[in-house]
Amino acid sequence: MEKDVNTIAVIGTGVIGAGWAARALAYGLDVVAWDPGVDWQTRLKAAVENAWPALRKLGLYPGASLERLSYADSPEEACTAADFVQESAPERLELKRSLHARIDAGARADVIIASSTSGLLPSDFQADCQRPERVVVGHPFNPVYLLPLVEVLGGKKTSEGCIDRAMAFYAGIGMHPLKVRTEIEGFLSDRLQEALWREILHLVNDDVASTEELDAAITYGPGLRWAFMGTCLAFHMAGGDAGMHDFMKQFGPALKLPWTKLEAPELTPELIEKMAVGTRKQAAGRTVKELERLRDDCLIAIMQALREYKIAAGNTLAENEARRKSRIPSSNA
Ligand SMILES: NC(=O)c1ccc[n+]([C@@H]2O[C@H](COP(=O)([O-])OP(=O)(O)OC[C@H]3O[C@@H](n4cnc5c(N)ncnc54)[C@H](O)[C@@H]3O)[C@@H](O)[C@H]2O)c1
Repeated sequence: MEKDVNTIAVIGTGVIGAGWAARALAYGLDVVAWDPGVDWQTRLKAAVENAWPALRKLGLYPGASLERLSYADSPEEACTAADFVQESAPERLELKRSLHARIDAGARADVIIASSTSGLLPSDFQADCQRPERVVVGHPFNPVYLLPLVEVLGGKKTSEGCIDRAMAFYAGIGMHPLKVRTEIEGFLSDRLQEALWREILHLVNDDVASTEELDAAITYGPGLRWAFMGTCLAFHMAGGDAGMHDFMKQFGPALKLPWTKLEAPELTPELIEKMAVGTRKQAAGRTVKELERLRDDCLIAIMQALREYKIAAGNTLAENEARRKSRIPSSNA
């Protein structure tokens, strides 16, 4: 972990902010949170408590405790005490821009300010900051407390040193920081996910398949592969012994057809209803909280299986466990 980060400020405590809070607490940090919503403290506490059994299963760091979560009355107050700030407010540029100016005014000069934005550009929301060089994007994935990936990038005024420090901090709380070398909207992972999501919406809109059938088309096939081997390496193997060159020769021409559509369909009320009815059927009466616990158990089982092969998230888990054990006195390990 980046040296001297003991306290993290979590600004905005919805799905993603609560996930950051849970992860940071599990790694033995103090968390000071702030959110302008109604009943936010109760909702944050419930979300962190729901995540805790999964984090316990993976192993808590020395000093990890739910008691180390505290609540501030303003973003400035939360940032005053912080050694690292993670902003997870709604995805609206104007909101983020003015919020970052307030965070920047409240945080110590040496503190990194990271945004969880899924696709806004840091150059845009660092514009009103006095110290824009310490503003970065640290884009996580839901659930933040289990998935290791965090995409890290800076804006035009961000210093390389601050990007490196943010990456070191994230690695220290068990994550896999992936540097996005070019400042582009949507970054890397969401661009890939969006392509799939767009096709799903077309196929449902055109009554080609149901949400359940499309999910089966992933979970029984490519989804199993994706946990440890991305599309590029998997397609290299699909070309046989000659690898990617033969794969391109065989399947490349189909790209000209093309099978897929580049523009999303219009989000009509009918399409939204079809998606909602389809996924409600798939949920089969289970609440989102129940589905979250099932998802967490499955994610942990997959990461633990991959640990044996020291691959992808299994590798991150193995490194993290070694680091955790090195901090626990041997009698308690
Ligand atoms: N949901 C995801 O899967 C996901 C994944 C990665 C990144 N993100 C990004 O994380 C950020 C938060 O998304 P979310 O899904 O947690 O949203 P959310 O709606 O669950 O939570 C947003 C929270 O921000 C609070 N808020 C409202 N106005 C605010 C303000 N002015 N300052 C601070 N907080 C304010 C709300 O009360 C709410 O609690 C967004 O930038 C989003 O793009 C979301």
